[in-house]
Parts: sequence; structure tokens; C-alpha cells
Amino acid sequence: MEPLGKLRLGVNIDHVATVRNARGGAYPDPLRAAKLAEEAGADGITAHLREDRRHISDADIDGLMEVLSVPLNFEMAATDEMQAIALRHKPHAVCIVPEKREERTTEGGLEVAREENKLAHFIAPLRDAGCRVSIFIAADRKQIEAAARIGAEVIELHTGAYCDHFAEGNHDKAQEELKALRDMSAYAHSLGLEVHAGHGLTYDTVKPVAAFPEVMELNIGHFLIGEAIFRGMTPAIAEMRRLMDEARP
Ligand code: PXP
Repeated sequence: MEPLGKLRLGVNIDHVATVRNARGGAYPDPLRAAKLAEEAGADGITAHLREDRRHISDADIDGLMEVLSVPLNFEMAATDEMQAIALRHKPHAVCIVPEKREERTTEGGLEVAREENKLAHFIAPLRDAGCRVSIFIAADRKQIEAAARIGAEVIELHTGAYCDHFAEGNHDKAQEELKALRDMSAYAHSLGLEVHAGHGLTYDTVKPVAAFPEVMELNIGHFLIGEAIFRGMTPAIAEMRRLMDEARP
């Protein structure tokens, strides 16, 4: 199957804010990183406003809405507070993620199947406000079907398990995860969902995921911000873009 379209790269700038917050000041500025990412070819900027504000702040979201030329993908937990913030800003896209205070990062996908009613009500006003609603889930048939039923337009498949197995040298397990991601991308597309993917992707893991014809967007943060330390933000993003394009026939 031919790819469904150009694969977009969303650059997640959360960890520029992590470094800034380590000293409690204003440097380095995530907005400056976002503008640089934009110039380097990012098709969108992703930022996760966590309940505990450990990296991105409310002021960062205000600033991003003001300065970005590319769409903002606003990641948030399904809470009333976040819904109100999203409805105030009406970003291009809203990605609903699970959130636990004690976790270091978003560890798993959202449990949609068990929370179907609640989530359907939660996302309806966001859709009505014109936001594209995406649900961050594992490559699991049950969750995908539930995401379609609640009226999400997009799912983002969690690539973390694939990347973790790859990093630990468990190549058989990485391949298993990859197969599930591939099969579930096709299945989600067959249900009319747009498919995105992300979490933990690196130069070494991006190509097989970028090659899935149904995947329309990858959201990548931690690795790119880390790599920017070594080669600079613009070359770090350009290399990711090159690998994504190479993987896409
Ligand atoms: N997509 C979603 C929904 C996420 O929660 C995250 C992490 O915040 C990412 C993509 C990016 O993951 P990473 O920072 O590991 O590249």
C-alpha cells in the first residue's frame, strides 16, 4: 500500500522546559526552541501541560498559541482543568493522555474501553470547539475500537514498548511490538481513524514506524532535545526528517 500522505513531524518541546525549570528561571526558553524547530522543518509543535506543571507552564501554552505558525498539539490529561484550558485556547489538536503523578513520563496508553462514556462526554466540547481530538493508546484492538466509538478523529499509538525493547537489545520483542503497531495502524485506518505514533522514538527506531503507510504523524521529543545538545536543534531535526523521508517510499 502507498503511504496515505506526507508524514508529518511533531516536535515535542517539553524537555526544553525541563532544563529551564531545573534552575527556576526563564532559560532556555521553550518558545525559542519551538520557533527554531519550526524553521528546521517541524510540521507541528507538541507540548504537554501536566497537572503538576513539571515542565511546560500555563504561560508557555499562552506563548505558543501566540507565536507559532505551525499547529500546536496540546497534550493533556482528561481533567476538567485541562479541558477548560484547551477550550480557552482552542489549539489545532488536543491529544488526551493518561497521567500519573508518580510517573517519569507517559508510561502507557489511555484506558478508553473502560471509560468510554466519560471520555465521549469529555471530548465532545473539544471537538465542537474545532480541535482535532487524538487519543494516545496502546496498539490494542479493544482500545482502538473504543476510540472510534467515542468520536475521536485521531489515535496516537504508543511506541514506547517497541523503543524500550529495542534499546535493551530484545530484538524479538521489539519486532513483536512493531508487528502489533503495524497491524493496529492498518486496523485503525480501516475504522476511519487518522493514525499518529510516538514516544521514545530515536534515529535507530524511527524508520520502521515511519514506513507504515497509514501513519500520518510522528511526535518526537526527548531524543531530539537530547540530540540537540550534541549537534544543535536544526541538524538534529533535519536528520530525523531525512530518516522519516527515507523510510517513506
Ligand atoms: N506522544 C505523546 C502522546 C507523548 O506523551 C509523548 C511524551 O510526552 C511523546 C509523543 C513524545 O515522546 P518522547 O519525548 O519520548 O519522544
